[in-house]
Amino acid sequence: MAEQNVYDNEEFFNGYTQIRNQESNKNNIFEKPALFSLLPDLKDKTILDLGCGYGENCMEFIRKGSGKVIGIDISKKMLEVARKENSDSRIEYKNMPMEEIGSLKEEFDIVVSSLAMHYVQDYSGLVKNVFRLLNKNGLFIFSQENPLNTCFTTGNRWTRDENDEKIFANISNYGMDGERESKWFINNVKKYHRTFSTTINTLIEKGFEVKKMIEPVPTKEILEKHPEYKDLFHKPDFLLVKAVKKYRTV
Ligand SMILES: C[S@@+](CC[C@H](N)C(=O)[O-])C[C@H]1O[C@@H](n2cnc3c(N)ncnc32)[C@H](O)[C@@H]1O
Repeated sequence: MAEQNVYDNEEFFNGYTQIRNQESNKNNIFEKPALFSLLPDLKDKTILDLGCGYGENCMEFIRKGSGKVIGIDISKKMLEVARKENSDSRIEYKNMPMEEIGSLKEEFDIVVSSLAMHYVQDYSGLVKNVFRLLNKNGLFIFSQENPLNTCFTTGNRWTRDENDEKIFANISNYGMDGERESKWFINNVKKYHRTFSTTINTLIEKGFEVKKMIEPVPTKEILEKHPEYKDLFHKPDFLLVKAVKKYRTV
């Protein structure tokens, strides 16, 4: 199975970079604060970042006291930016698919992944590898697209009223785990949908204890500045999970 490397596509990369450069994008307002709220004190912690992209989070882990960060990403273009804009002697960037982390020799206190898990077909295999790479009581903390987003297959994503206001999200094929293809900057971008129960039960089956989940929605202050984000009350865009490694047979 060949992993998809869509971020190295010029058109996709440019479109994605444009969104990420907007200060009030959903990553900055919702996903990043939620992700960082799940992290423990990072002093001297060793961290593996799966799908590290531009390396912004890797750099932030170092600022927060982490002793060593390995950031891996399948995209050469994303890592080029990471090495240019977020380099530090305590960060090592590796160009590799996260499906191959089984080959890593190091062990980590924390494995983090921000918005990359939904690109992985073999989630169960990945979780097994993460479990092995973590120290005792190590943490696995990740964000991904919410399953209510990834399930979508066809038709209109929203039902709207006569004023074109979104009144509810249309959900289709939620119960069918598997590949989805959609247009995001370019055609045929592949993501993998998994229900909440698959996502969580896989962690439990591989030996993790789930500590917390977050599906970020706007606060009153955010809504005052960005009323357009009220739609997240109908359907959150992100799912964040914090799980701890427990010692038992997997
Ligand atoms: C939405 S971006 C998020 C980047 C970064 N984590 C952040 O939050 O700023 C997803 C990243 O995952 C990477 N990615 C996608 N599939 C991957 C895979 N199979 N192995 C490693 N990285 C992958 C992409 O190249 C991209 O850099």
